[in-house]
Amino acid sequence: MAPVLGVIIGSVREGRIGPTVAAWFVRQAVADGRFEVRVQDLRDDDGGFTRWVGESDAFVLVTPEYNHGYSAALKGALDSVKYEWRGKPVGFVSYGGSAGGARAVEQLRQVVAELHMASVRDAPLFARVKKAFDENGDTTDGAAMDAAARMIDQLWWWRRGDASTYPGARLR
Ligand SMILES: Cc1cc2nc3c(=O)[nH]c(=O)nc-3n(C[C@H](O)[C@H](O)[C@H](O)COP(=O)(O)O)c2cc1C
Repeated sequence: MAPVLGVIIGSVREGRIGPTVAAWFVRQAVADGRFEVRVQDLRDDDGGFTRWVGESDAFVLVTPEYNHGYSAALKGALDSVKYEWRGKPVGFVSYGGSAGGARAVEQLRQVVAELHMASVRDAPLFARVKKAFDENGDTTDGAAMDAAARMIDQLWWWRRGDASTYPGARLR
């Protein structure tokens, strides 16, 4: 069975663009072909979230930037699960106005370290996101496509599939 890449749509706002950004990334990851890709939209009420996290071997958080931070929905999701994140790699796809969500991602790196996750370096980002995708949800942003490919490579390298052997797996 292929390792599972769990992609989380981090915005829940009415009129959000998050699903467009996430769908673009999912197409890159599916085309890469190594991971089985599963998507969790935080707008959906999902009592099975802890199990979904537990069944994923690596993650990508798709995050907007709001007032130089990431979304409250993402913080709630990260805080709602404890052990199931541990010993797994995480990457980010960010978007926003001027800074493409880079500031949101730097904050997320601090939080995921506390969850015993390894954040990978490369992260596609979209500034002026409303203009970054055409009506089919495609982008011509070559830098973002390169960053997505590198991020998937890095997540693939870090994924182990035996997170239960991580030294902090059951620490309180
Ligand atoms: C309350 C609010 C605050 C925002 N603050 C920032 C910001 O600090 N930096 C930025 O680049 N974009 C900012 N934006 C622009 C958003 O990143 C942009 O609207 C994006 O589409 C939001 O993601 P969403 O559509 O998935 O909710 C802000 C938007 C909102 C609604």
